[in-house]
Amino acid sequence: MLNIGVLVSGGGTNLQAIIDKIEDGYLKGCNISVVVSSRVGAYALERARKYNIPAISVPRKEYASIDEYDSALIKSMEDYDVELVVMAGFLSVLGEKFINRFKNKIINIHPSLIPSFCGVGYYGLIPHQKALEYGVKVTGATVHFVELEADAGPIILQKAVYIKDDDTPETLQKRVMEQAEWEILPEAIKLYSEGRLVMEGRKVRILEK
Ligand code: GRF
Repeated sequence: MLNIGVLVSGGGTNLQAIIDKIEDGYLKGCNISVVVSSRVGAYALERARKYNIPAISVPRKEYASIDEYDSALIKSMEDYDVELVVMAGFLSVLGEKFINRFKNKIINIHPSLIPSFCGVGYYGLIPHQKALEYGVKVTGATVHFVELEADAGPIILQKAVYIKDDDTPETLQKRVMEQAEWEILPEAIKLYSEGRLVMEGRKVRILEK
């Protein structure tokens, strides 16, 4: 059984997608052992509690430094025997201590086709606003391994979503979530749980079943 720790900050729709895929058997062999929110009262915590998943707040604002916050997050992961950390709408920065402790065991969902519209400051609606401003015809979502530099780790999966002429940042965000994020994040977790992700330099090769 792969124990997953999910880091959240907001609504938790990606967490819900993982829960749903465990419930329907797609992610058999996976277990969410804890959900940790950087913000008190995040609705993602309510989603976890509905399924009796341990759901705790480790509020970023209560820690003076990234290093101290890393230590608190590491403890919460270790308390629940977490083997894979999934960042699902997590809005705080993970520091070197956390990333080294869970090296190559942290994945993140980003709402764009990295390397476009990503990096520091690109979160929530912003990647979608920038895609619309730029006039790209295609955007999407990316699941990648997490390294110290924001949104720069080896890419695991991507899925494209076509932009419509009448899209707003909100309509685009919703479609990217529905058609891309909620599909590729559980798929990446499944591949990881089956040992089918192989690092080749900076590239991730997916082994056939
Ligand atoms: C999503 O767009 C996700 O890609 C980004 O945060 C947003 C909210 O995610 N990382 P969630 O609904 O809290 O899962």
